[in-house]
Amino acid sequence: MSNKYRLICTACGADCGDFSDWFAHDQKCSCGCQRAEAVYNADYGKLFDGEGFEDSLFRYFDFLPLEDRANVVSCGEGAEPIEEWDFLEEYARSKHGIDCKVFVVRNDLNGGSGTFKDIAAALGASIFKEKGVRNFCLASTGNAATAFSRYCSLAGVTFDVFMPNDVCKDTADTIRSHGQILHISQGGYGAAKKEAADFHVRENVLISAGNIDPIRVEAKRTMAFEFLRQLGKMPDVFFQAVAGGTGPIALDKGVRELQKYYDKNIKMPRLILAQQDTCDPMVRAWEKATAENFPKGWEKDYPTVIPQTKISILSAGTPGMYPVVAPMVRATKGGFVRVQESELASLAKKIQERTGVIFGPASMVCFAGFRQALAQNMIHQGETILLNIGEGSERARWFAKEVEDCK
Ligand SMILES: Cc1ncc(COP(=O)(O)O)c(C=O)c1O
Ligand SMILES: [Zn+2]
Repeated sequence: MSNKYRLICTACGADCGDFSDWFAHDQKCSCGCQRAEAVYNADYGKLFDGEGFEDSLFRYFDFLPLEDRANVVSCGEGAEPIEEWDFLEEYARSKHGIDCKVFVVRNDLNGGSGTFKDIAAALGASIFKEKGVRNFCLASTGNAATAFSRYCSLAGVTFDVFMPNDVCKDTADTIRSHGQILHISQGGYGAAKKEAADFHVRENVLISAGNIDPIRVEAKRTMAFEFLRQLGKMPDVFFQAVAGGTGPIALDKGVRELQKYYDKNIKMPRLILAQQDTCDPMVRAWEKATAENFPKGWEKDYPTVIPQTKISILSAGTPGMYPVVAPMVRATKGGFVRVQESELASLAKKIQERTGVIFGPASMVCFAGFRQALAQNMIHQGETILLNIGEGSERARWFAKEVEDCK
């Protein structure tokens, strides 16, 4: 039993113990709820005093659900620089007359696989090492699979990953290069998820609990700590490309925790979440809810779309987490925006001209979301904007090529 933290069920408030208990109970509370949040026995006055592991999320060791520093598995992730990009500020000023500060989280510089999935995989692998978990499985559209394959290898964990049949070759090669086991489904992401769930039951292998998995959420919530550490405050607006929704769910958890234990005046940023027009079920649901003025039960009303996108990591056609994420978006007075996939390569080219870097296509959805929000008057004078771009272009070479071919 851990004195350091407890997992508390978000539905009934029951104490679900530590990760040993959580895994032993199939990652569920006895009430059936799969969403639990960690509560830490820690001194939040010392949040930024952490010694060691300065180059990673483990600088917050006292605020992570891991007991022994010896179990840390890290490649330097989660402490990447947050940069101010003045050419985006200039764009907002000259095109829309908006004076704002624009910051970009350079997740492409994460040491594991260059995406914002690395922090979750680093914490996951560390917990597996600590708890003696030898096998893990997951269905993923790409970045989570790549990150977990690397970190599980480092922790000596055998990892079975189930991917949709349109998995890109670069991703498949990377996963295999880490010695992990790739199962390519006959169908799309839904089919891969079903196969992973069957495998979990049949082989009794621990499975990722999806976007509300406390491993992912506890890791990713450290971005709220990083915003405070690096910017000295919370941004007014948080942008991200959204598929499952772990990012906003984790930010919400981190901010509530800061409000409760660190500074009650900290404000949750306005959430503006972007999807590309070729797979935009959350945007569609949001537009419907807005048009109908949010009738009772609006958050449960969402469509399934058949993804037509080339961005495999943003191809979740059934947005199962919409009922969790959309009320958060509404509470912050934010919104969902649609961007055009056909315009992403030329945008990436422009950003390459200014930065020298080609970012991945999901990062471009985030940048395009910022542009779209400006056009829809969703950004106000004097605000601080944070763009949580999620990846470099390393495993999306098809996209890098499109960008290079752009005139
Ligand atoms: C680069 C990138 N951006 C955005 C997303 C969507 O993340 P979320 O789970 O927070 O919706 C993902 C993950 O699928 C990703 O890898
Ligand atoms: Zn419960």
